[in-house]
Amino acid sequence: MSVVSKLRLLKFKSHAHEKVFDWKWGEKSFNRIAMVNLLVANTRGWNTSYLEIGCAGNLLFHSVAAKRKVGVDPAEGGTHRMTSDAFFAANTEKYDVIFVDGLHEYQQVRRDALNALACVEEGGWIAFHDLLPSTWKEHHVPRLQETWTGDCWKVAVELSQAKGVDFRIVEVDHGVGLMRKTSSNYSVPDLSERLLDAEFDVFVDEVGSLPLISFDEAVALILSGRA
Ligand SMILES: C[S@@+](CC[C@H](N)C(=O)[O-])C[C@H]1O[C@@H](n2cnc3c(N)ncnc32)[C@H](O)[C@@H]1O
Repeated sequence: MSVVSKLRLLKFKSHAHEKVFDWKWGEKSFNRIAMVNLLVANTRGWNTSYLEIGCAGNLLFHSVAAKRKVGVDPAEGGTHRMTSDAFFAANTEKYDVIFVDGLHEYQQVRRDALNALACVEEGGWIAFHDLLPSTWKEHHVPRLQETWTGDCWKVAVELSQAKGVDFRIVEVDHGVGLMRKTSSNYSVPDLSERLLDAEFDVFVDEVGSLPLISFDEAVALILSGRA
């Protein structure tokens, strides 16, 4: 560990929490790529229009079998070299499947979720990556280590209490959120007063109330046309 990393850990020592969630990601036979392709196959197949926020090395982006693909990342990958905020501010298109995996900080993910809700096609899907951290270091903002979910889970708490949307978290690949609109009159609560500065102890308290489902349950929901 570098000296800078050690100093950072020291600085945030008071945020440390002993709880470790053993999600067993390595033992699951499916990941976000399988999930997204299942969504694509069950919306408009090859004719699906796909948007990915945060593409990095295009691992997922290049694995999605859809004709029209738009990828947004200020650093690398995808098709648009810009932030998600800049992209959504200029966007006039609708998308069938949207994957949110950009900056893993609560208020950014919240904006990405609301912007995605505004431009998803009727009957379309929004998916999210990294909703289930294993440790306080994996959750911590600012980032302390390579494996990082950030505090995207705070948006999951809000989406699980939202009206007019159906939201689940599939227990694969660091937690893949699945959401679709059930009403054009949807609303997402703003719990930032309680969540903005919340640390890992709050996730430990909240995780039991999150709508966790297995991959098999997600498949059944997608095939039945409901999330
Ligand atoms: C975890 S990686 C994405 C991985 C990719 N979706 C995959 O599954 O293979 C996160 C990416 O988000 C990008 N990012 C950071 N801030 C962003 C922003 N404001 N808008 C869009 N993307 C952002 C980073 O540059 C990084 O490449």
